[in-house]
Amino acid sequence: MLHWFDSIGARALRAYPYRMETYDGAPGPGGAPALSDAPVSDAGQPLADQPLTEQPGAAQPDAEEAATDQPVKLLPVAELHLHIEGTLEPELIFALAERNGITLPYADLDELRARYEFTDLQSFLDLYYANMAVLQTEQDFADMTRAYLARAAAAGVRHAEIMMDPQAHVSRGVPLGTCVNGVASVLANSLEEFGVSTLLIAAFLRDLSEESALEVLEQLLAMNAPIAGIGLDSAEVGNPPAKFERLFARAKEAGLHRIAHAGEEGPPSYIIDALELLDVERIDHGIRCMEDPDLVEHLVAERVPLTVCPLSNVRLRAVDTLAEHPLPAMLAAGLNVSVNSDDPAYFGGYVDDNFLQLQTVLGLSEFDRVRLASNSIRSSFADEERKTELLAELGYS
Ligand code: ADE
Ligand code: ZN
Repeated sequence: MLHWFDSIGARALRAYPYRMETYDGAPGPGGAPALSDAPVSDAGQPLADQPLTEQPGAAQPDAEEAATDQPVKLLPVAELHLHIEGTLEPELIFALAERNGITLPYADLDELRARYEFTDLQSFLDLYYANMAVLQTEQDFADMTRAYLARAAAAGVRHAEIMMDPQAHVSRGVPLGTCVNGVASVLANSLEEFGVSTLLIAAFLRDLSEESALEVLEQLLAMNAPIAGIGLDSAEVGNPPAKFERLFARAKEAGLHRIAHAGEEGPPSYIIDALELLDVERIDHGIRCMEDPDLVEHLVAERVPLTVCPLSNVRLRAVDTLAEHPLPAMLAAGLNVSVNSDDPAYFGGYVDDNFLQLQTVLGLSEFDRVRLASNSIRSSFADEERKTELLAELGYS
């Protein structure tokens, strides 16, 4: 059964020789849905008893081998690492610019797309912040959010924890209420409208001061903004977690969840500090943990969720190629990793594109895809009822 939007499915089918179908709840090709607490493998054994499909250092199947006629199943997943401003597609940038009477510094879509060649995180951030100029009204924020949810739903996303960057909007004169209400008004009905449960996370820009972050957090609390948590993003190197201890303590006191980008470009010590100094519940990215075996051991023991974004890492040159991405080694090490799209409009794809390319290039097995999907659901801040519902769709009971 084809489940994709026609245009997206057609594009994907042109790019990859797969058949696409929805996930049928059976964690193995043709297998019966698993009814026990743990998913069964293709061989019918519980996941916990299975050897890891990718051992560190083991040869990975090459793309040729992976590109068989296997169906690519859309798994029900939670997207845990997504910047809503990073979902602004070029077409929407032009449409919003026109609606708001803004002259863009690009003549047309091609000229804008030609800028999507990044050398590092900062080179991306420069464009990402510049393009936000088209977001002026509640309607703009709502339209962007609706477009993401439609596309995410088509990618199999059933729960999304969505970051927004309030400081990036108030600093250019957009009232806090405008950006928050625009996004939140759509999230309020996301389950009914798109089948995607959602939470909103206010992310703070680590290249700005802690005072600025505290001021905006207090305003969000005072206006009773429907935020479930706070995050920490933007330029990582030189802006260590220690800079934001008071912010995260305040968020914890206010009963908010806490996450932080760490170990994307920054060193493994930033991951340790985010956990120890900021008391975060998840790490966004975290791929550089692989440079520190003691840290890996700790992350595995504590089952700390790492929200990995493979296509983002390639586009921002955190890794040279997808073939060299550490995800297989992270899975083999027993880390609690999930797959996410980060800024899908800028990095060449949504969650389904990430999964598809992982399967194509790294030969990611169905067994590991199910594990990644279940990690995402279990590591979310969704309530237990929603988690149980989504895990059941995945074949867990
Ligand atoms: N803001 C949006 N995307 C980001 C990323 N990948 N890293 C840090 N800050 C971001
Ligand atoms: Zn991010």
